[in-house]
Amino acid sequence: MKKHILVIPGDGIGPEVTTWGKAVLEQIGTEYGHKFTFDEALMGHVAIEATGNPLPDETLTKAKACDAILFGAVGHAKYDNDPSAKVRPEQGLLKIRKELGLYANLRPIMLFDELLDASSLKPEVLRGTDILFFRELTGDVYFGEKKRSDDRNTASDLMIYHRYEVERIATKAFEAARSRNKRLCSVDKANVLEASRLWREVVQELAQQYPDVETEHMFIDNAAMQLVKNPKKFDVVLTANLFGDILTDEASQIAGSMGMLASASIGDGTGFFEPIHGSAHDIAGQNKANPLASILSVALMLEISFGLKEEAQRITSAIDQTLKDGYRTGDIADIHTEKSKILGTDAMGQKVLEYLSKSAKN
Ligand code: IPM
Ligand code: MG
Repeated sequence: MKKHILVIPGDGIGPEVTTWGKAVLEQIGTEYGHKFTFDEALMGHVAIEATGNPLPDETLTKAKACDAILFGAVGHAKYDNDPSAKVRPEQGLLKIRKELGLYANLRPIMLFDELLDASSLKPEVLRGTDILFFRELTGDVYFGEKKRSDDRNTASDLMIYHRYEVERIATKAFEAARSRNKRLCSVDKANVLEASRLWREVVQELAQQYPDVETEHMFIDNAAMQLVKNPKKFDVVLTANLFGDILTDEASQIAGSMGMLASASIGDGTGFFEPIHGSAHDIAGQNKANPLASILSVALMLEISFGLKEEAQRITSAIDQTLKDGYRTGDIADIHTEKSKILGTDAMGQKVLEYLSKSAKN
């Protein structure tokens, strides 16, 4: 198989972790005889510094022409504390999601047994959890009209959804539920918000076409509570952009760390694969970041964009083995025992490559 992959390392720990995602792709390519070619492009703070634009035209052109995108992170502390900044790194990410029509963000909460103790939640609450979030990614308050009054004392972000936007992501979520444990929980705030009432209406209508899927509706506040109380009750969770952003950060603690969660953004064209964590400037450049979310993003790319299930499985197994042998980055170190062998980003990435080689057929 021949595929051209665009790597967008971005800001903070982005370049450190995508290095290892790319290395894993290269190794899989060599072993299986796939020809993966790579290009690189700028986005976020680094792009603002170089061109003044968080998503330069050149990046967008390359993104539209490639077969899949491996992305790191965007963001910089300097903008976080400056609400008046007109140009922000995150605008690059939001624009590329919109331009590429990436309306469905899949965030699997995959639990490695070895990491049960890395979570602040009790192992018996976590064991057996397997959730797939479908977060809508190109609508909601993220993209609704933003206003600021002339006197600057009033501001608003419009929460807006169109029927077709809810329909297309809900269809993907129902299809996924059908191939999993046949349970779908749609999360909204329909007791208060009109946009959520449309959301619920559309999901209810669509549910009739999926009688084999057990559909449930839950308010976001309740869902946030249920997620830590009894995460096992969830299978597929379908929700809007903002609610999904918040719920998946919360859910990352089920998997032990933000550093473990990968995501796939899909829709009209090229797939976009990224860790759910941000640029983590506090640890950037220190060889401390966990590269596993980027490596797991590559597994998602192989499976979802290229249909290479076996290769994807090999990556997940290599990570499993790495964790079983006690190797950890700081964020997933076992707090209860002394058994963790703490590694930096590079050594951890290298370990996964080693386990991949060891498991090779010949
Ligand atoms: C995410 C991030 C982004 C979002 C930011 C960086 C714009 O938090 O992908 O979850 O809010 O969608
Ligand atoms: Mg987020």
